[in-house]
Amino acid sequence: MLMMLVEGMIRQMTILVDLDLDDGSIALNGAESQSRADAQVEPIIRCKEIVKHFGDQTVLSGVNLDVYPGETMVIMGGSGSGKSTLLRTMIGTHKPDEGSIELFGQCVCDLDEEGLNEVRKKFGILFQSGALFNSMTIAENVALLLREHTDLDDEIIDIQVKIKLELVGLREDAHKYPAQISGGMKKRAGLARALALDPKILFYDEPSAGLDPVTSAQIDQLIIALSRQLGVTSVVVTHEMDSAFAIADRMAMLDRGVMLCLDQRQWFEHLRDMPEAEAQNMDENRRLVRQFLRGDADGPLASRRDEVGYGEDLFGMTPDLVTRTPSVQPTRG
Ligand SMILES: Nc1ncnc2c1ncn2[C@@H]1O[C@H](COP(=O)(O)OP(=O)(O)OP(=O)(O)O)[C@@H](O)[C@H]1O
Ligand SMILES: [Mg+2]
Repeated sequence: MLMMLVEGMIRQMTILVDLDLDDGSIALNGAESQSRADAQVEPIIRCKEIVKHFGDQTVLSGVNLDVYPGETMVIMGGSGSGKSTLLRTMIGTHKPDEGSIELFGQCVCDLDEEGLNEVRKKFGILFQSGALFNSMTIAENVALLLREHTDLDDEIIDIQVKIKLELVGLREDAHKYPAQISGGMKKRAGLARALALDPKILFYDEPSAGLDPVTSAQIDQLIIALSRQLGVTSVVVTHEMDSAFAIADRMAMLDRGVMLCLDQRQWFEHLRDMPEAEAQNMDENRRLVRQFLRGDADGPLASRRDEVGYGEDLFGMTPDLVTRTPSVQPTRG
């Protein structure tokens, strides 16, 4: 156990040497990004035909998603498309109504709370808010899981906490309480806590939302470094496109609970950069994904607003009447 711990520490310190968090720049060792979606490798996460309803609303409609060890999978999609729900289903917070989730080759849908807690020790989660305990310092927040789930001495825990905080650039703020740090720092502290037990998988929900560009880039570089140097598998929900393209090995696009596209990052880059004339010949789904990637005002997503039936909702008019008949008839004078 101690040997594994020491090895883990050394590997993490290697990241510290390579990451220069002060100026946002990074030098990465090792091979260039390579596809880990090798057909020979078993997925570390397998979502099969996931269906999730909330009341009458179907939020996920038969979603399939395999994530391979060491890769960074980015899940994109508009607001309300089901990204966070999919993430929560993967980590066992929501039970799917249909389909199954396997983590580390084990089906988690039928596990009781105790079984789930065992699996949860092997992954970390970074929630949007950081989800820190306000009555504890940052260091205590990071130490908490180590105290609960290991029998390490206080001295070793202190060292582990310092390494995690240094990784996210917060070692000197260890004594502060969540109320005393900025939103970006909270997020980084949340990441340090998610790393506490040296997880094999890290789930992130909007890691860069609300961060300044430099902090956001630093979080991106940390995600990349964790993947390349520690072999951590990352599942990242985001609609920050710069960040998505910076970190992804593969990308998935959810639209209204349906998995529209799932492919290598390069495929999405090609789609994003495709000339307009060429893009016009594509089917609606691809044009929709392209519009999302580019953040264009015009495209299939824009025309959806007409489907909403706003006038019908307000005045009981049919869409036809709403678009063609003025709401107030002009008077003749
Ligand atoms: N616990 C819940 N109870 C009822 N409805 C829910 C619940 N969680 C999510 N929903 C609904 O499911 C849909 C998808 O929500 P979800 O949070 O997954 O979207 P999202 O893609 O993460 O959006 P955003 O980008 O805004 O975070 C929304 O319509 C939401 O209102
Ligand atoms: Mg969400």
